[in-house]
Amino acid sequence: MRCLEIFIAVGRTARAQRTLSGLALAALAACTSGAAIAQGNAAVSAKAAACAACHGIAGKAPLLPVYPVLAGQTARYMYLQLRDFQEGRRVNELMTPLVAGMTRDEMRELSDYFAAQKPLPQGFAPDPQKAVRGKAKADETLCTMCHLGGFAGQNEVPRVAGQNYPYILKQLADFKTRRRTNDAGTMTSVANTLSDQDIENLAHYLVGL
Ligand code: HEC
Ligand code: HEC
Repeated sequence: MRCLEIFIAVGRTARAQRTLSGLALAALAACTSGAAIAQGNAAVSAKAAACAACHGIAGKAPLLPVYPVLAGQTARYMYLQLRDFQEGRRVNELMTPLVAGMTRDEMRELSDYFAAQKPLPQGFAPDPQKAVRGKAKADETLCTMCHLGGFAGQNEVPRVAGQNYPYILKQLADFKTRRRTNDAGTMTSVANTLSDQDIENLAHYLVGL
């Protein structure tokens, strides 16, 4: 798909779905910077281009590490998060307005699209000693009972391996302080047992997986 076609397609989406209109320009910027949109269903790629402004092209290398990597995340988890943002169970000033006009089918398409992308290796260099302590804490807390070995994730349990460092810190802190409560209590009770130092060590471990 060529840049012009992407821009026209995003513009069309933007008109049909007023929530995305502010992002057409960002999509054009991402496009004209020479980045290629991954092949696949053209309409889905065009919608995903609007996400590139923050989550990076094909969800791989987010613009700022406080935005999560979407590439390789489980489709079921992403779909549930988009639905939670729309229904106000998860709140974020950037994501909430974006999903306002999204249909369930669009949520599914976008989730399948990002789940099929391969994440890039992390640029962040973890502190080896903190990573060792993080692994010990993860073993002790039985995180992988839910997140699976290597934190690869499954269905509604997210992949955390190779996620961005500041994003992991923020989510664990958000669960602990109950700023994020859409987890049916699973993560809140886990995060309650973690000190700030544990959270930092865990993030050094997880980013390097
Ligand atoms: C303006 C920036 C921005 C844009 C554009 C954007 N997002 Fe996000 N997105 C965020 C931020 C910030 C978060 C993390 C919110 C938090 O800290 O809880 C997020 C979180 C998410 C999550 C949850 C990920 C996780 O690991 O829990 C999904 C799924 C998601 N976005 C999908 C999308 C899709 C699909 C699009 C395009 C339609 C999109 N985003 C566009 C900023 C953005
Ligand atoms: C009882 C099952 C369970 C255990 C144990 C568990 N988690 Fe989770 N975790 C989840 C679920 C489910 C979610 C997604 C919650 C939601 O839907 O909002 C999650 C979300 C997360 C997230 C946010 C991911 C994102 O993309 O936003 C992080 C980070 C995380 N877990 C890390 C951990 C760590 C580290 C441990 C161990 C200290 C752990 N989890 C233990 C079930 C679990």
